[in-house]
Amino acid sequence: MTPDITAFFDEATNTVSYVVKDPDSPACAVVDSVLDFDNAAGRTRTKSADAIIAHVLDKGLTVEWLLETHVHADHLSAAPYIQREVGGKIGIGENITVVQNTFGKVFNAGTEFQRDGSQFDQLFREQDRFGIGGLSGFVLHTPGHTPACLTYVIGDAAFVGDTLFMPDFGTARCDFPGGSAATLWDSIQKVLSLPDETKLYMCHDYKAPGRDAYAWETTVGEERIRNIHIAGKTREEFIAMREERDATLGMPKLIIPSIQVNMRAGQMPPAEDNGTVYLKVPLNKL
Ligand SMILES: [Fe+2]
Repeated sequence: MTPDITAFFDEATNTVSYVVKDPDSPACAVVDSVLDFDNAAGRTRTKSADAIIAHVLDKGLTVEWLLETHVHADHLSAAPYIQREVGGKIGIGENITVVQNTFGKVFNAGTEFQRDGSQFDQLFREQDRFGIGGLSGFVLHTPGHTPACLTYVIGDAAFVGDTLFMPDFGTARCDFPGGSAATLWDSIQKVLSLPDETKLYMCHDYKAPGRDAYAWETTVGEERIRNIHIAGKTREEFIAMREERDATLGMPKLIIPSIQVNMRAGQMPPAEDNGTVYLKVPLNKL
């Protein structure tokens, strides 16, 4: 079955969020929503999330799921905000506990921060199935960029998170804690074993050199034939290329605020005794 898919591109973080709708009912899922964050001012805004909520309300949709492909390091998740406004269950991969353990320590989050994934409504495992109205979906565990990364396969579409980017841009970095280029290669092979005509929806696009427009939809067949990091490469060549390239990359602008919010399923840390919420900056840790 082919879902109805509406993409929302956030140019500030190069992130694509999706509303994935059952063609035969009002049921939908929201994949990888964005809470706008002005780092200089320490201020959140809901413009991007409000666009998704307006779409849901305009079309009379029922949000069944708020799906996160992983703990994003480049934007804050708006899942709890959207959940408060229009409902839906927040899902992520069960290896979120690994990410919570790692970054709970980095941010010295203390005992208030549970590291059992309980902030999320659903922890998915490899091959778990879920429904969006009459649409059926299943989960591929596709680690490498992070240990908890998932690909959501919904009808004839797959939401690949940070595994593959568009064929002319390549693949996701693997140098965050718990990342692994070898593991990413294996995960990408899993995605590319889906039928060639499967539509793939990217989590990010940065325009590739020579391309003027943003793009986020391709197919398994296109990625297999054209992906500049994968096509015609061996596993060893990929690992060497990925590790060499990752060594040159700076940290994403919003990694420090993003991770301490997203490891809590998009909730802010508890307010301090003056009622204000603070985000920490761990010095010389990342
Ligand atoms: Fe990511």
